[in-house]
Amino acid sequence: MIIFQNISLKPYNTFGIDVKAEQFVEVKTIEEVQVLCTTFLLHERKILVLGSGSNILLTNNFCGMAIKISLMGIDIIQEDDKYAWVKAMSGEVWHDFVMYCVNKNFGGLENLSLIPGCVGASPMQNIGAYGAELKDTFEELTAVNIESGLLVKFSNAECKFGYRESVFKNEVKDKYIIVSVTFKLAKNPVYNISYGAIKETLKQQGIIEPGLKAISDAVISIRKLKLPDPKVLGNSGSFFKNPEISQQEYDVLQEKFPDIHGYLLPGNKVKVPAGWLIEQCGWKGKRTGNTGAYKDQALVLVNYGNATGEEIWNLALAIQESVQQKFGIHISTEVNVIA
Ligand code: EPU
Repeated sequence: MIIFQNISLKPYNTFGIDVKAEQFVEVKTIEEVQVLCTTFLLHERKILVLGSGSNILLTNNFCGMAIKISLMGIDIIQEDDKYAWVKAMSGEVWHDFVMYCVNKNFGGLENLSLIPGCVGASPMQNIGAYGAELKDTFEELTAVNIESGLLVKFSNAECKFGYRESVFKNEVKDKYIIVSVTFKLAKNPVYNISYGAIKETLKQQGIIEPGLKAISDAVISIRKLKLPDPKVLGNSGSFFKNPEISQQEYDVLQEKFPDIHGYLLPGNKVKVPAGWLIEQCGWKGKRTGNTGAYKDQALVLVNYGNATGEEIWNLALAIQESVQQKFGIHISTEVNVIA
């Protein structure tokens, strides 16, 4: 384990922001994570845990230690007639892990195909797409307590999953480093193809009885159509979360904006697509300097070349402000903004 000084983080974040970390270390085993925590007293330092860096915006040089998680391995740890429990180490690329499960015919993750990022980051914000969320198949995770260096397990309930939320973004933020995640996957899965775009794609392909591979392929093609490939155009997926407002607020907005649409949630709340709100404010496809809201999905901010984190953050603030002005709705960031 070598600790490097003043390393550029450009290869380690999908926005492609060129800032430096004061210190940088790559960890490949659980023991290395534990040693790092106790020997270097990580709990007393500023740290940045990096998986694929696909959900962060770096706005400045990082005055602390960046830790690249490269723990690898996938194991089927238990099986019965109905389920397989599969454990993946946190450095595994999320999509590779999904492909492993699809190829084994273990169901539950196929709708989450092609989401950028690593396994270890997936529970942090309870990743979700096309009608599925990580929490639907999540069994447990193992993490290192940064202060003590000891291993701790978190069950599904203990993670307190919500919409792009978990305990790791709230109560225990910066207290643990996730080292592995176990999923409970179905051997006879019930397919989740209710999401309009999936249904439509399968229909176009003439597939009447899809299997896991066909659903995964459909999701991959939908994502490729709407979302920019970070290798081509730097981005961090959805920059904002879809806001939730009360039914009353929604009714008032609908009077004024008859085209608005929303999804009813329990508790008389309505989730409004932030992409639509941003598009209505004129940002979709508009370029501001080296950055802008993507032409096919306004919720995604992109780096056209040499954007700085500050430039992207300023655009995000301007977008937030205009959505607030036009609709009276605050859209909060989904991406983790690192100052
Ligand atoms: N829309 C617009 N204009 C836009 C973008 C979207 O009008 O520029 C409208 C669409 O017409 C549609 C609605 O907004 O009616 C929803 O759009 P979409 O299906 O693309 O999904 P989203 O709500 O914008 C969420 C997730 C994505 C996930 C998709 C598919 C969040 C913050 N984002 O986006 O997740 O892939 O659903 O399930 O919940 C991510 O988290 O990084 C991410 C990409």
